[in-house]
Amino acid sequence: MKPLLQIALDELTMENALKVLSGGVDEIVDIIECGTVLIGSEGRKVVQQMRERYPHKKLVADFKIADSGKVMAGMLLDGKPDYLTVICAANQKTMKAVVDEIKDRNLTTEAQMELYGNWTFEELEQWKKIGISHVVLHHSVDEKGGWTQKELDLVRKLCEHDIHVTVTGGISYESIELFKGLPIFCIIAGRSIRKAENPAQEAQRMKDRIIEIWGN
Ligand code: 5RP
Repeated sequence: MKPLLQIALDELTMENALKVLSGGVDEIVDIIECGTVLIGSEGRKVVQQMRERYPHKKLVADFKIADSGKVMAGMLLDGKPDYLTVICAANQKTMKAVVDEIKDRNLTTEAQMELYGNWTFEELEQWKKIGISHVVLHHSVDEKGGWTQKELDLVRKLCEHDIHVTVTGGISYESIELFKGLPIFCIIAGRSIRKAENPAQEAQRMKDRIIEIWGN
């Protein structure tokens, strides 16, 4: 299966986020992400607004929940996202509270674990027991330089663990190739699409590149 393409909308305003999507990006990408920056800047209402505008599109609420799992998940789940992110540094009780809140609301939302910094494969197995079997491996936006061999080896190892593996951070048309041969669930691109002269053209170019590498 080829990886899906997700646009990370890390804009400061909903108006700018919608501008990025206009012109065809919304049709081209598989998943629309209400980014941490957008939710932090405009509030949880953006998830609901995006859902109203795109009722049938896969939607991510990326707020990297770290604590107060029930309340934080609840406020984002009002927008019925398909995916909701939790950060790996969170207490496992917080992770469980997020998963329980999804269940209590009878939603099909999937909790994704955002991998930053220190975590272990032992913890990964514990997260799976809690009900989280989708991880997002980050190359930090604040990191200078591209993906390192160490990070790519980690992606490969994660792919051997019977979970969905999504990758993000500084991914462009040129760097998609780095993940060749790996069963990646989704490639997230923010700046490389948002800052392109023609975002729709760039999103299409990236989508075509994914098909060239993984097949259709
Ligand atoms: C940061 C994020 C970013 O949205 C994601 O990593 C995309 O980054 P880039 O703009 O480098 O493609 O989750 O918190």
